[in-house]
Amino acid sequence: MNDRLKTIVDLDNYPIHDLSSSKIQAIIKKCKDDLEQFSCSTIPNFILPKSIETMNFELEKKIDKVFMSKKSINPYLNSKDDPSLSPNHPKRTFLERDNGYLNSDLFDNGSEMKFLYEQEELLKFVSACLGISPIYRWADPLACHAYNVMRSEGILPWHFDSCEFTLSIMIQKPDEGGIFEYCPFIREPGNENFDEVKKVLDGDRTKVRQLKLEPGDLQIFKGRFTLHRVTKVKGEKPRYLCIPAYVLDPWRVNTPEHSEAIYGKVLPIHIERNQARSDGLAD
Ligand SMILES: [Fe+2]
Repeated sequence: MNDRLKTIVDLDNYPIHDLSSSKIQAIIKKCKDDLEQFSCSTIPNFILPKSIETMNFELEKKIDKVFMSKKSINPYLNSKDDPSLSPNHPKRTFLERDNGYLNSDLFDNGSEMKFLYEQEELLKFVSACLGISPIYRWADPLACHAYNVMRSEGILPWHFDSCEFTLSIMIQKPDEGGIFEYCPFIREPGNENFDEVKKVLDGDRTKVRQLKLEPGDLQIFKGRFTLHRVTKVKGEKPRYLCIPAYVLDPWRVNTPEHSEAIYGKVLPIHIERNQARSDGLAD
């Protein structure tokens, strides 16, 4: 283990460097149960306060490089209308979005978040919590461990992620709003469940759950199958989150359209690897 890991993760309470310990085995079991039942699990105070400060600092240092986008999107992260579909199709519902990212390629080499993402201990721990192996770090050079920024009036509408597994680490909580909401397992490979998705877009709250995330907490989340959103942020203090992601396919990256809309640019890798998803689900 690299010694720097113990300055970032609370290894006393969460010994991810020793997956055979009974302490971490109990946590893994709880996460696995939560993930199977709710598609989501939270580990409180996983990141040490000093490291949260460092992450805030490294984001604020580059805050002028954050790409903010306000384009309305459908739940499949697309902004283009398809008039060949029925007007009631969820692909034709476009919701307000105001959200930004500090792309992963802008992180310094010594970055706290980048270092954490590159540690095998974290990958193996997440894989154990999911009960899925192997999982891989995401090959997308812009999106793999980006910082997310939501300022006052910022909002992230209902959507599915392009990657299978997302970690969220809250590093600054806003004064008000910015609540994560989700509908566990509303779709699965082979079943888009468009009718149920549309109901949620139209305001049905039956399947909606809320998650309270505090600075330092680690959330593990299956975002490709679970419709989710972040409610509007209110007040002066922006909401900062870092979102390292893992995937089942080590080759795949975001589509060029998605990368342009959300991260503000397209790299050659997005064009070279622009192929249909192996799970057949829409992005
Ligand atoms: Fe998401």
